[in-house]
Amino acid sequence: MYIKEVAEKLETSTRTIRYYEEKGLITPAKEENNQYRYFNEEDVVRLSTILALREVGLPVEAIHELLKAPNMQVEDYLNVQRSVLYEQWLELKDMIQTIDKMTEKAGEGQDVKTGLFDLAKQLKTLKTLRKDWQDKWNFDNQAHDYDQSIKMHGYRFNVHQDYEKALNRVVETVQLSPGNVCLDIGIGTGNLGARFLKKNIKVIGVDQAEEMLAVCKEKHPEIETRKGHFLALPVMNLQVDAIVSSYALHHLTEEEKLLALEEMDRVLKKGGEICIADLMFLDQVHRNRVMDAFRKDGNLEAVQAIEDEYYANRSRLVNWLRKNHYTVETHQFNDILSMVYARKEGE
Ligand SMILES: C[S@@+](CC[C@H](N)C(=O)[O-])C[C@H]1O[C@@H](n2cnc3c(N)ncnc32)[C@H](O)[C@@H]1O
Repeated sequence: MYIKEVAEKLETSTRTIRYYEEKGLITPAKEENNQYRYFNEEDVVRLSTILALREVGLPVEAIHELLKAPNMQVEDYLNVQRSVLYEQWLELKDMIQTIDKMTEKAGEGQDVKTGLFDLAKQLKTLKTLRKDWQDKWNFDNQAHDYDQSIKMHGYRFNVHQDYEKALNRVVETVQLSPGNVCLDIGIGTGNLGARFLKKNIKVIGVDQAEEMLAVCKEKHPEIETRKGHFLALPVMNLQVDAIVSSYALHHLTEEEKLLALEEMDRVLKKGGEICIADLMFLDQVHRNRVMDAFRKDGNLEAVQAIEDEYYANRSRLVNWLRKNHYTVETHQFNDILSMVYARKEGE
């Protein structure tokens, strides 16, 4: 096929095709006598892939890398691209919501200038919150040894005490039917999500660590893995029947945790359930008591491990959920591990 025919078939321009040729993404043969480009079937398929990936926003360089790889893992690139687009989409949503509030304020004719400034400040804080989270624990590096590491005990502090018990309790608590969709956030290697597969539940696992997702996919190919994070879930509004999460939320600060709950609320259907098993204290008084006891005991291993992360204040999570029309139940496994189960109002 000649360039004009290809352009027509793929609904693009000859200029675009020449651009990809210049960038080295396609190398059609040239006819000896007239130097016209001739595209064989493989060239056309390759070009249609390039156009499709550009359409969803993948950068040209990424496509180049992808096409060079012997086993082209398109899925992985699309996964990253989807998480980037969700982040952008949520940023736009926040901006539109702020504009709506600003318009309302302006209409009320009150002290508009300060009002607008405050709203803009809130928006800035929100943008920073969503963007600034960093994986200071390097979970990509931990992925391959993770399952082994949870079986190991510290010398004087076992953070995974009651791990199995907690995961089982989450599965017993959440009331799902076959075919329902369950989102596992911070899925890691899939130890919680996989328990729902046995009940014929469709599981979507979200994690910010690509290596964790790769291990999870290898262990449980039936789980749909999506790159993303608590503060920008790669899921549309009101899509899932339940959200579960184990040993993940304590990697977010208290302020981030509340935004994470907001994100969960965005994607959860009415009447849906949230079940979080995680490292947390009942409240500040409980935290102080437990930490004082460790210090008195000279257990610096425990103190340092707890201070390296952000164990939740359970009462704050519960308060947020109740305020946002959830009925809530809690369960405590031990001094540092609790479960929060919440059902959203509606259907
Ligand atoms: C300790 S592992 C727990 C894995 C699994 N849920 C379990 O119970 O075995 C924590 C996981 O949460 C993920 N994680 C931590 N912070 C996250 C965030 N902000 N967004 C998404 N995933 C996060 C990590 O990448 C890691 O895979």
